[in-house]
Amino acid sequence: SPKLIIYDLDGVITDTAEFHFLAWKKLADELGIPIDRHFNEQLKGISRMDSLDRILEQASPPMKLSTEEKIELATRKNAYYLELIEEISPEHILPGIKALLQANKEAGIKTAIGSASKNAPRILEKLGLGDTFDHIVDAAEVKKGKPDPETFTAAADALGIAYTDCIGIEDAVAGVEAINRAGMFSVGVGDKAHLSHADYLVSATNELVFEEIIRRFQEKQN
Ligand code: BG6
Ligand code: MG
Repeated sequence: SPKLIIYDLDGVITDTAEFHFLAWKKLADELGIPIDRHFNEQLKGISRMDSLDRILEQASPPMKLSTEEKIELATRKNAYYLELIEEISPEHILPGIKALLQANKEAGIKTAIGSASKNAPRILEKLGLGDTFDHIVDAAEVKKGKPDPETFTAAADALGIAYTDCIGIEDAVAGVEAINRAGMFSVGVGDKAHLSHADYLVSATNELVFEEIIRRFQEKQN
């Protein structure tokens, strides 16, 4: 059996992936840079500053800004985002997640959050999940964001668990890559078109069934 399941937050526990997109879209519109949902797939799981860099590269010609200007834009985006998450409550936990967490805990398997978001603790509080996880990776302490494995290995290291005993759950292309590179079992939530590199893929969170995830994990170990 696995000893730790590491959950991504935005897009797995709750639908904040949508709010990140809407906030970036608002900023990009103001800058006259076209971005759409297809492009947004490559922003998922990516840190605030790296996301901004990718958006500025979409301008023609690419926008070159000073660090100060970039901080101003990233701060503006975050303000839009904070407005959107203001209303988040426990009802915004995605379908299937509560049952999954409960089964996870009943099985005596540890839980962690592996998020790139500096807003993760605030969102978990709003969802009523502030005390649920055994460990929350501090995004500010991670040196290399997803697709680097550090976010996931940091969670395992904090709890003293071998990477091969871990499962990671992700909705992002970069996130699934990070889990795979950590040597962990990856569960993808989303579209085959983006997440075909996941060890086990479901199309939505309501399909995340604990027993089935464990079965797939064990199948791969053998
Ligand atoms: C990730 C999201 O969880 O966190 C990204 O998938 C986001 O879209 C990143 O850019 C950083 O979030 P924040 O809240 O620190 O700006
Ligand atoms: Mg995500």
